[in-house]
Amino acid sequence: MGHFQTDWTEGYKESFEKAVGLCENHGSALEIGCFEGRSTIFFAEKFDHVDVIDTFKGSPEIINSGYNCEELYETFHKNTLKLSNKITPHVGMSHNVMCGMVSQGRMFDFVYVDGSHTAIDCATDTLLSIGMLNKGGVILIDDYLNWMELTPGSRTHDAVDFIIHALHGSNIVLQYVGTQVAFKKA
Ligand SMILES: C[S@@+](CC[C@H](N)C(=O)[O-])C[C@H]1O[C@@H](n2cnc3c(N)ncnc32)[C@H](O)[C@@H]1O
Repeated sequence: MGHFQTDWTEGYKESFEKAVGLCENHGSALEIGCFEGRSTIFFAEKFDHVDVIDTFKGSPEIINSGYNCEELYETFHKNTLKLSNKITPHVGMSHNVMCGMVSQGRMFDFVYVDGSHTAIDCATDTLLSIGMLNKGGVILIDDYLNWMELTPGSRTHDAVDFIIHALHGSNIVLQYVGTQVAFKKA
């Protein structure tokens, strides 16, 4: 049993199962924002391999809750040890790591966007993900309906609204909208 102080995944199991079920292949997954690794374990059990990106420094909402991020990387490592042969962690800001992945020609069957929740960061993470998504692949974005009390630039909601509109009529097709939002590449 791992060491988890926070569980954001329990309420999302249904959405996770649905999104993973929509994927036509289950080779490679990318998780942006893995935190303690609970969601990573779920994805590592479903896909051949999972790349994860995290600063391992926490987000404002995590730090403001009093969570001590000093040992976050070690906690992630311990929690995911049993599946470590299927997981590659990348430490850094998502945009920097993803630009490197783009230049290496990396492609994924599934991307979970759950890193920084500012609108600009969420939009950038999602747009970079679209370029690395295989045909039949799925992008799942968290927190569409959370943090609604914050200003538009500080929440995921407005990034997702922009993305839904921007992708309308494209081959990246909206699958469902709830607290999480899923798109599939036709
Ligand atoms: C909500 S948590 C992820 C939760 C995890 N997916 C789960 O369900 O258990 C958000 C994570 O994103 C990371 N993060 C925040 N901003 C980031 C950025 N710009 N680049 C990479 N990681 C970031 C934080 O360190 C934190 O671990």
